[in-house]
Amino acid sequence: MKILVLNGPNLNMLGIREKNIYGNDTYEDLVNLVQKIAKENHIEVEVYQSNHEGALVDRIQQAYFDGTEGIVINPAAYTHTSVAILDALKAVSLPAVEVHLSDVSQREDFRQISYAGKACVKTIMGKGFLGYQEGMLFLLEMADRKGE
Ligand code: DQA
Repeated sequence: MKILVLNGPNLNMLGIREKNIYGNDTYEDLVNLVQKIAKENHIEVEVYQSNHEGALVDRIQQAYFDGTEGIVINPAAYTHTSVAILDALKAVSLPAVEVHLSDVSQREDFRQISYAGKACVKTIMGKGFLGYQEGMLFLLEMADRKGE
């Protein structure tokens, strides 16, 4: 199975940004963990991060053409603003899981809406890096069930 793990703005600053919310581990640690989980579960994974909305839209569109079978996405701040990312997810219609490191349901009002989430089969929040693991394994299970 081929999975795309997509990360939005400021997630490259993990380990530096608001450590009380996002922890001490770095973006590189996150990428290493995702790659380890992929290897252990025979998943082909691509990890992509961008601070630019259009670049994220481009990468989602590319997933339609490159054999990607599922997307784990943390759109970060674009979660709460981007109809373009929502539309891109709908356009490719691949199963997508929304992941947030923090529990956004317990944060500011402006974080209470998720556009991207409207095109996702599942949302995982407040579990830190483990949310990515849960998301990847969920997509794997979904694909296995479909293949049976
Ligand atoms: C985040 C939550 C968003 O509200 C925020 O803008 C982020 C990270 C999270 O992973 O908890 O940048 O998506």
